[in-house]
Amino acid sequence: MEKLVITGNQPLGGEISVHGSKNAVLPILAATLLVKGETVLHNVPDLSDVNASIEILRHLGASVKREKSTLVIDTSNIVNNDIPEEMMREMRSSIIFLGSLVTRCKEALICPPGGCDIGVRPIDLHLNSLRKLGAQITENGSCIHCRAQKLHGSKIFLTFPSVGATENIIISSVLAKGKTTVINAAREPEISDLASFLNSCGAKIFGAGESMIEIEGVEELYPNSHTVIPDRIVAATYMCAGALQAKELVVKNVRAGHLVPIIPVFTEMGCRIYLSGNDLKLVSPKRLKRVKNIKTMPYPGFPTDCQSVLMAVLSKAKGTSVFNESVFDGRYKHISELRRFGADITVNDRIAVVNGVRELYSANVYSTDLRGGASLVLAALAANGVSTVGNLSHIDRGYENIEKNLSEIGAVIELSLIHISEPTRHLRIS
Ligand code: UD1
Repeated sequence: MEKLVITGNQPLGGEISVHGSKNAVLPILAATLLVKGETVLHNVPDLSDVNASIEILRHLGASVKREKSTLVIDTSNIVNNDIPEEMMREMRSSIIFLGSLVTRCKEALICPPGGCDIGVRPIDLHLNSLRKLGAQITENGSCIHCRAQKLHGSKIFLTFPSVGATENIIISSVLAKGKTTVINAAREPEISDLASFLNSCGAKIFGAGESMIEIEGVEELYPNSHTVIPDRIVAATYMCAGALQAKELVVKNVRAGHLVPIIPVFTEMGCRIYLSGNDLKLVSPKRLKRVKNIKTMPYPGFPTDCQSVLMAVLSKAKGTSVFNESVFDGRYKHISELRRFGADITVNDRIAVVNGVRELYSANVYSTDLRGGASLVLAALAANGVSTVGNLSHIDRGYENIEKNLSEIGAVIELSLIHISEPTRHLRIS
């Protein structure tokens, strides 16, 4: 077991680069099943969730080779139509394989997906949408069996703009017979990136990034290459590190347009933001100010994935900030760990009230989930003294080399093995 050992309250500064987006590349990896031949993907981050998807592709029969941040995926010979339970449980995104697998093999056998414990995460929108596209689905709790000779287009209204369900519908309809319309689709940039990859392979997807998406089914897709968009959540996390501990920090390889829901929060805290090409420069004030209300919402609202990292920052800001987590019902598990640093946070159902304190103190904490883990790293960077953050497997799902990247901008942070102490030996007194 490993932990991060962080000596806090060190000045940060300089330049930090953002890797490719996890949430964009995962559905694209699933979509490569629709292309018979070699897909080349650039800017693919080396993350455990990405590696879990690669293992699924390999199990299905694909060949996947990595050369630095480029993946070459050949799906010419798919031999399996099932995903073993241990692979499904690795991450939530494994459900995205359902649409591509049933399209490719006419039959798919999977079990419910795993992923971060951030509340109830049903998959009804995925399954009901696939049913509307003509799939026959049976479930028995531990197994989902999906069959379709050929999916057909349909009009699908999503009761919530689910990111994953929108992706599953797009993937399932590009080769379906006829036209599919998705109403109340998710608008996240990762949806647009999936559509842009599929369109470059010959798909006909219109309106990705808007609430209504139309897909005209085509006969086949041809292989192509694609560069994955930068990870806007990683960019926001580095901006948080800069806001807390740097006078100035340049975050490189960002898409400014994707950060539109995030930037106003930083300016409200008193930071100044300068954009130039793919670079974002953040200049922090002496002391950050509170942000009155932060409500997490589907894009273009404030992202739920940034709630915990922003909370770490606001725990040291002047004044009281109020969070309303409206997307997931169990996404405050990091708060009890943040309190160990001296953060003053109270929770009532979906509302968290953060009274900013002047100083945070060192603590030994454990990640509770991916973004919650990142928030603990930020709190440790801003705390006086030496802190440790354990349960790093959560953080590895979404941040490539976090300790190396942060140390390059001045953080005193290292990876250390946790020694399980030997049981105390009692002296026998005769
Ligand atoms: C994706 C992101 C995740 C992000 C989330 C919201 C990936 C790999 N993960 O997750 O980082 O936090 O979007 O921006 O892209 N819901 C249902 N039924 C369903 C599906 C979802 O009720 O069938 C609900 C969920 O319980 C949740 C809400 O819809 O309350 C949002 O979930 P969704 O947008 O689907 O998130 P994910 O795609 O799982």
